Amino acid sequence: MKEVFARDLLHQEVVASNEPVFLTGWVKTIRRGAHFSFLELNDGTDLRNIQIVLGEKLPNYQAVTKLNLSATIKVTGQIALTPKAQQPLEIHADQIDILGQSAADYPLQKKQHSLEFLRTQAHLRPRTATFYAVFKIRSLAAMAVHEFFQKRHFVYVNTPIITSSDSEGAGEMFKVTALDLNHLPQDAQGQVDFQQDFFKKPTNLTVSGQLPDEGFTLAFRDTYTFGPAFRAENSHTGRHTAEFWMIEPEMAFVDLAAMLPVEEQLIKYVINQVFLKGQEELTFLNDNVDSDLIAKLKATTTSDFAVISYDRAIALLQAAPQTFTYPVKWGMGLQSEHERYLCEQVFQRPTFVTDYPEAIKAFYMRRNDDGKTVAAADLLVPGIGELVGGSQREERPDILAEKIASAQLNAAEYQWYLDLRRYGETVHSGFGLGFERLIMFLTGMTNIRDVVPYPRTPGEAEF
Ligand code: 4AD
Ligand code: MG
Repeated sequence: MKEVFARDLLHQEVVASNEPVFLTGWVKTIRRGAHFSFLELNDGTDLRNIQIVLGEKLPNYQAVTKLNLSATIKVTGQIALTPKAQQPLEIHADQIDILGQSAADYPLQKKQHSLEFLRTQAHLRPRTATFYAVFKIRSLAAMAVHEFFQKRHFVYVNTPIITSSDSEGAGEMFKVTALDLNHLPQDAQGQVDFQQDFFKKPTNLTVSGQLPDEGFTLAFRDTYTFGPAFRAENSHTGRHTAEFWMIEPEMAFVDLAAMLPVEEQLIKYVINQVFLKGQEELTFLNDNVDSDLIAKLKATTTSDFAVISYDRAIALLQAAPQTFTYPVKWGMGLQSEHERYLCEQVFQRPTFVTDYPEAIKAFYMRRNDDGKTVAAADLLVPGIGELVGGSQREERPDILAEKIASAQLNAAEYQWYLDLRRYGETVHSGFGLGFERLIMFLTGMTNIRDVVPYPRTPGEAEF
């Protein structure tokens, strides 16, 4: 007997025949009637359910129609085309095998649940249509990112998760140790003796793969990472998680201006791929989560991103008809309210802000000739704010060494990074795109916790 899947039934021309088929899946709803009942089955291969028609002649009709939601069954029956109905076809069941019961207290009963409640059910929420759509798009987007870079011959590099240097120099790291925290060994100065730790030195979870990636860029020319990053920043926002995924391309012989089009093309490519392969999911999210979603994504692929300097951004913010919680002055870091004003009110599309003050940006960014700004660019997008941070890298060894010192970083830890400038330096540039924020943009979800399978935020590491 032929096994069939919803994905194929709903997307291909299916010819009804008398040959029986079978499919397996989870019970989504049952509408009971006197002589027959309708059961909606989801088999995991499609956002949409398959309607199963159950006649009272089924030997276990009573047992099947009393199944709790999310029980698993095997349906054997005939495909019947239903061109006049909402769904293109249904299955007339000849036999139902009950594979797995579901307890009566299944938390996702058939009613609208809040996103907050569903966060407490992170192990079950992928069974809802909303999260099915979000995580399907997440998967499609990940593949699209790889395709984009592979088509351009970028080499994919897996940079280490456990590191001894702080790539961002911001000190927001989770420590990694094999020491017994209740009996820490001490050195002569009374400090923790990391000589006795696993790596014989302090280590942490990486905040970014950029620095080790640069080593590969100076061999392979164009490289990218796509992996997890960890930040112990105590941010309670809808845009920060302690564990997130970042895409970090790095390009040799490329300056800031030449890099920006790569960012723009990447984002447009991913959107187009999701339109191509996730049409059903996008439509569902547009109907149920954000009614502007499809229009916003379409507009993003057809318009040029705006580019303004930090100086101009400050001037625009100072001239804004609204007041901000954080007053605007040259030298400050842009807060989310400022970022969103610029890309949502002024430009109404993704907006690059370039040439930030050196003092507020990471040590590896290239100092501009004015001596006070760096060749950096953040990409701000409507609804989110900063989606990408990038820069041209400081390739001049003396200036880089000075910047490492003035950031009060331990020079010895960065010697290998300085080596990259001593042995064949070149202009190079790269950026980091926060994958979760991209998924927020692609799905219309407004809280980062709803685009991560099992979110990790301050005070929360359930599941
Ligand atoms: O701007 P960030 O900190 O830049 C870097 O890490 C560079 N090393 C990137 C590079 O040039 N290779 O982070 C880059 C992006 C941000 O724009 C944001 O989208 C995302 O990573 N991001 C976070 N996403 C979720 N939660 C957090 N706590 C994030 N911190 C950064
Ligand atoms: Mg940043």
